[in-house]
Amino acid sequence: MKEQLEKLVSDSLSQIGAAESVKALNETKVKILGKSGELTALLRNLKDLPDEQRPAVGKAVNEVRAKLESEFSKKFDDLHRAEVESKLSAEKIDITIDKYVHDVGCLHPLTCVRDKITDFFVSLGFIVTDSPEIETDYYNFEALNTPADHPARDVQDTFYITDRILLRSQTSTGQIRTMERIKPPIKMISPGRVYRSDDLDATHSPMFHQIEGLVVDKNITMCDLKGMLDMFASHFFGHNCKTRFRPSYFPFTEPSVEVDATCNHCYGKGCRVCKGTGWIEILGAGMVNRNVLANCGIDPDEYTGFAFGMGLDRITNIIHKTDMRAVFENDIRFLKQFK
Ligand code: DAH
Repeated sequence: MKEQLEKLVSDSLSQIGAAESVKALNETKVKILGKSGELTALLRNLKDLPDEQRPAVGKAVNEVRAKLESEFSKKFDDLHRAEVESKLSAEKIDITIDKYVHDVGCLHPLTCVRDKITDFFVSLGFIVTDSPEIETDYYNFEALNTPADHPARDVQDTFYITDRILLRSQTSTGQIRTMERIKPPIKMISPGRVYRSDDLDATHSPMFHQIEGLVVDKNITMCDLKGMLDMFASHFFGHNCKTRFRPSYFPFTEPSVEVDATCNHCYGKGCRVCKGTGWIEILGAGMVNRNVLANCGIDPDEYTGFAFGMGLDRITNIIHKTDMRAVFENDIRFLKQFK
């Protein structure tokens, strides 16, 4: 029995040594240590031994089982590691392959500036309104106190669709539409596209953007307009920027002013951009003409108001120190800079 055990050990060790795969090793293990394996068969012979030999032989059989199990386990680790390594080196992942990368876009500079201006006025309690781009002559001119012989009505300047229907040439139309709908107190801005028959150059485009503003209440004065526009100038052009008013004429305001802000290139010293004056024009404004209030059913003896209209493209060009064409051409190399 002892010899049989020794032979089993030496045969088993050489079979373990010869196993070339985890699968072959497992088969060998079942053949030797399994329920119907060679060691189990030897164990069955124990009952034929004399009683006094049985404990010693039983112990020897258990030692052999423990030794073989540990040999199988060591060999298993070696074979398993080798198999994983060869699999990994056979299965290379090509990380150089081209992959389509989505380009993340950004908002157009005009949209960003419009949103900032809108936020500014909303923070002062203004509402934001919208009005049609295709308008009637009434909203674009008549209600705004613009007489039939006013040069702005010239077909040379305005895109007429029919005699009475046109592409709005100013967002001032939004003033009328708002005053027809809401009674004072009113604080509103109305941003949008406007159209004029201009050729595209560094300062003009046949389609551009304006933001109209209107405040109507009791006791509104030009001081309110000035104070608010000074806040606007320092907010958008820098802390020391102010505004100045120059007398002007618009049919829908009386008195009317053209408003300049401190030049944000030279901060008032005088440079090429402000043509040496230290000021740049930013918008038109004034006290709402009595006729305009009356046209909208608001009593001009009870209420007063101020209005202003600014070119969004112009303000964007001033803030970003660029020009009209760059803002409208949508050259991706230009737009990417605003990411
Ligand atoms: N609508 C004028 C324009 O397009 C701008 C403007 C000037 C608007 C004075 C106003 C204003 O509300 O009061 O040139």
